[in-house]
Amino acid sequence: MNETIIYGLGGLVALAIAVLVVIKPTRPAALAALGWLASIGRRAWWWLRFRLTWKSVAREAGLSKRRTKRVKRMGVGEESIEKWRDPRLKRVKTSAHSVTLKVRTRRGQALADLEAFAPKLAATYSADAYRVFPAKRRAGSTVMFELVMRDLIKTPAVAAKPDPRMQTETVRLGRRQSGKPFDLQIEQRHTVAVGASGSGKGSILWGVVGSLAPSIAVDAVRAYGIDLKGGMELTMGAPLFTKIAVTGEQAVEMLRDFVAIADQRTEELRGHSRNHKPGPGDPLYLLVIDELASLTAYADREVKQEAERLLKRLLSIGRAVGVVVVAFVQDPRKEVIDMRGLFTQTIALRLRSAMETNMVLGDGMAPFAPAHRILKGAQGTAWIIDEDGSTDRVRADYWSDDLIRRVASLYPAEPELVTISDAAPGDLPGMQLSLTDGGSR
Ligand SMILES: Nc1ncnc2c1ncn2[C@@H]1O[C@H](COP(=O)(O)OP(=O)(O)OP(=O)(O)O)[C@@H](O)[C@H]1O
Ligand SMILES: [Mg+2]
Repeated sequence: MNETIIYGLGGLVALAIAVLVVIKPTRPAALAALGWLASIGRRAWWWLRFRLTWKSVAREAGLSKRRTKRVKRMGVGEESIEKWRDPRLKRVKTSAHSVTLKVRTRRGQALADLEAFAPKLAATYSADAYRVFPAKRRAGSTVMFELVMRDLIKTPAVAAKPDPRMQTETVRLGRRQSGKPFDLQIEQRHTVAVGASGSGKGSILWGVVGSLAPSIAVDAVRAYGIDLKGGMELTMGAPLFTKIAVTGEQAVEMLRDFVAIADQRTEELRGHSRNHKPGPGDPLYLLVIDELASLTAYADREVKQEAERLLKRLLSIGRAVGVVVVAFVQDPRKEVIDMRGLFTQTIALRLRSAMETNMVLGDGMAPFAPAHRILKGAQGTAWIIDEDGSTDRVRADYWSDDLIRRVASLYPAEPELVTISDAAPGDLPGMQLSLTDGGSR
């Protein structure tokens, strides 16, 4: 088997030399050709390596089953024959940075046994990361493993100014580990992002608010913020927010107004439509909460109880009527995670232990989405669970203070909305006048 590998690689090297000698390309063209050949060589090597070593790896990991059969042979008598049953490697697909394996269970094997094999597989082949997802066909017996052999999201990327189109459904936050774009759905979703201090929650926060800025400017989105850390984070992009609450009382007031808006919209939409579609003048209400725990865990008892009650209600009624919450949390303790079930999508940035990963993404998820293994220097990197239940690693682009300020001054919220406390009662549907202007201007 080693001969095949050696001949294959030898052939590629010979081809490379032939190209250089016969065509005599210019230096950049030669470098590009060599890069291309190196990539093909690498992919061929990965393909062969997985094909040739699959059975031995499966056997050593305890995925295969050995049977000993006794057979009678003429003139020899009884003889024992050893037979292995291995999970079947149905396909090996390579890309410039990853290898995807399609594997079918052997007879008598549970799909969960195969899925649990992913961390061992990744370690055996020194993969930087992995993910497991169901196969399109025969999902009951077949599983896909994607092993990232070269980490495309190792180097950080800087966010660009948002696309000036009005966009409320999804926002582009960065890249997936496959190199494809990472888009987050905003409409019809409540999102919670959990990550230790310095894990890069700010990139996700500004990725959401900054990308929605063109919609904020035409009043297709109204952003409100709760920032009980003295407004440190949100005031950087203050013009984008209609209001920012910086004290517990202001936050409770804001939550109360949001519940009122959601109630009123439910009333209006009943019998007409099941889902609200935002547009200019009929906006998506977005509530951004930086450090949810400062509201639900560390605040005074009264504020805490009222905030929790209102937030739980908002999370259960707001989604379909265009009133959504995007919250950020450092510490996934019980008080906060109590509400986890009400958030419809979760982003797990760097966490401190496998236990925290299980708390945030769900029991038993630590081996499939190891957020506790994200390195400190990989800020903005996170694990997510896609609609189909598969996990993926993503990295949000970095939003510098300067970019936040530039986008905020380019796409400010409509000024008349920001001075809401001077408006006459009933000017805004369901909006009460107790909203406090937390220094958002
Ligand atoms: N996407 C990113 N890529 C590269 N570096 C980043 C990224 N996001 C953040 N950083 C770096 O990490 C630092 C901390 O990030 P950030 O303030 O977003 O963390 P945080 O999770 O909000 O922390 P805290 O909970 O303490 O507020 C930033 O100052 C920046 O230098
Ligand atoms: Mg922060």
